Amino acid sequence: MNYQWYPGHMTKAVRMMQENIKLDDLLIELVDARIPFSSRNPDIQELGSNKSRIVLLNKSDLADPAQNALWMRYFEEQGAHALEVNSKSGAGIKRVGGLVQEACKEKIERDRKRGIVNRPIRAMVVGIPNVGKSTFINSFAGKACTKTGNKPGVTKGKQWIRLNKNLELLDTPGILWPKFEDQDVGMRLAFIGSMNDEIIQEEELAWDLIREIQTLYPTALTERYALPENAISAAPDTQEAAQILEQIAVQRKCFGKGETPDTGRAAQLLIDDFRSGRLGRMTLERR
Ligand code: G4P
Repeated sequence: MNYQWYPGHMTKAVRMMQENIKLDDLLIELVDARIPFSSRNPDIQELGSNKSRIVLLNKSDLADPAQNALWMRYFEEQGAHALEVNSKSGAGIKRVGGLVQEACKEKIERDRKRGIVNRPIRAMVVGIPNVGKSTFINSFAGKACTKTGNKPGVTKGKQWIRLNKNLELLDTPGILWPKFEDQDVGMRLAFIGSMNDEIIQEEELAWDLIREIQTLYPTALTERYALPENAISAAPDTQEAAQILEQIAVQRKCFGKGETPDTGRAAQLLIDDFRSGRLGRMTLERR
């Protein structure tokens, strides 16, 4: 399949973000821990070039723990402050506050030398659609406010959420669109649901997903769908992947007219199993 990306309101959103970035000290960039490379937008480096930066490996609950550790090390080696989080459950969120102080240490010190004390750090959350920005903001703002005993509230006319006396968060996240020429990047964005599903051919996406999973996690498909052992080769081609999808349809009793395997339904099932973590915790990009 040819994976394409047609962003809708990109120019306007980027312009708004550029305006907002001027007001920030810190960018909190969310990436999807299952595809930490493909879920970043390279422009963020430029947009936030003179800002402190934190990279959060979000949805780390769906990614491979060993790979999470390797990606953390990678981002740290790149000079970023990194953390694994699960914005949905709140795991790891408590540590973000401390990391913010750490990431802005130099700025706080600079302010102090100039006699500026207690000026809160202003932070903005950025990331591609569906990476979990709103979930993170809710989780982080909720937790931090409870901790400091303040009620979360948005000042009228301003879009800042005051988390505590040291930190303000812009309540609207900066949306970055993924950028790719590489079809593999587009394909992985489609796997995780960060590409408009309407333009996706589900069966073809399922074939690609079968090939990718089988290469990286060779027992996952046979175990989940009770396929005969050695039913799939180590690196299946598209034709073999299509046969596997038929077998999944049979195993899951997805039948169409005349008892023919309904591979469309099997494709939906497989994609959904992957996205929700039922196939196991998986990271599709390696460092
Ligand atoms: P966005 O603002 O960046 O567009 O993303 P948003 O917060 O809307 O999150 C997109 C989806 O990702 C939501 O699922 C959300 O619950 C889920 N999500 C966010 N963070 C995490 C995480 O750390 N782990 C897991 N497992 N999921 C996460 P949804 O299906 O669209 O909504 P819902 O059914 O969960 O409410």
